[in-house]
Amino acid sequence: MADRRPVIAGNWKMYKTSEEALALIDELKGLITGVDDVDTVVAPPFTALTVVADRIKGSNIQLAAQNFYWESEGAYTGEISPTMLLSAGCTYVIIGHSERRQYFGETNATVNRKIKAALAYKLVPIFCIGESLEEREAEKTFSVLDKQVSEGLENIAADDVEKIVIAYEPVWAIGTGKTASDEQAQEAHHFIRKCVSDLYGKDIANVVRILYGGSVKSNNIAGLMVQPDIDGALVGGASLTASSFAGIVKFKIS
Ligand code: PGA
Repeated sequence: MADRRPVIAGNWKMYKTSEEALALIDELKGLITGVDDVDTVVAPPFTALTVVADRIKGSNIQLAAQNFYWESEGAYTGEISPTMLLSAGCTYVIIGHSERRQYFGETNATVNRKIKAALAYKLVPIFCIGESLEEREAEKTFSVLDKQVSEGLENIAADDVEKIVIAYEPVWAIGTGKTASDEQAQEAHHFIRKCVSDLYGKDIANVVRILYGGSVKSNNIAGLMVQPDIDGALVGGASLTASSFAGIVKFKIS
């Protein structure tokens, strides 16, 4: 895993009221006290961001939003700006999750605008990419990933690319219980790092952290984390229970 600092991020999706979010974060905090060699991130829904931010002050947990709009303010009913995320306590934002691409019309072009806006506001983008089952079966995985990386990073400067966290999430593995094998995941991560290297050079590619996502659990994290190009995980279902998420954050111990 080279000497890149691991990131374990929990994407709570459209789960957890503010009350439920508080119960989860309080329990999680207790379970991962003292784990300081991992960047632990939680991404609650918008309505729970400020209450969770308040609870994690001074802890080893950082806050992410699951989405945002690229303008800083304006007449955009229903949208949330980067300034609002910063004021709510976020340091990260998930961008281009496959569910946003699939259900809410996000494209590589909108993802690119969001990555640029996040960087401009000093939010760390968690830039999601991944192929569908049909694309994998048609042997298009690498061409899809290549296009997502190059279009998503279009016109982004090298010193900004270093700050981006990429999340590789094969769509067929999300919420299905089907994880990519350690070798399949490593192969894709290695390819993604090569795409970054072709665009920005080896030194930049070597510092970019690439997370795996798709049915990550405490019993499969260790095998993924020993792969040389896997630097962490973006976790959905297993981040909704404190004990299972803590088991993933503590992958070195368990
Ligand atoms: P999952 O979701 O862990 O439930 O498969 C991952 C994600 O969508 O980020």
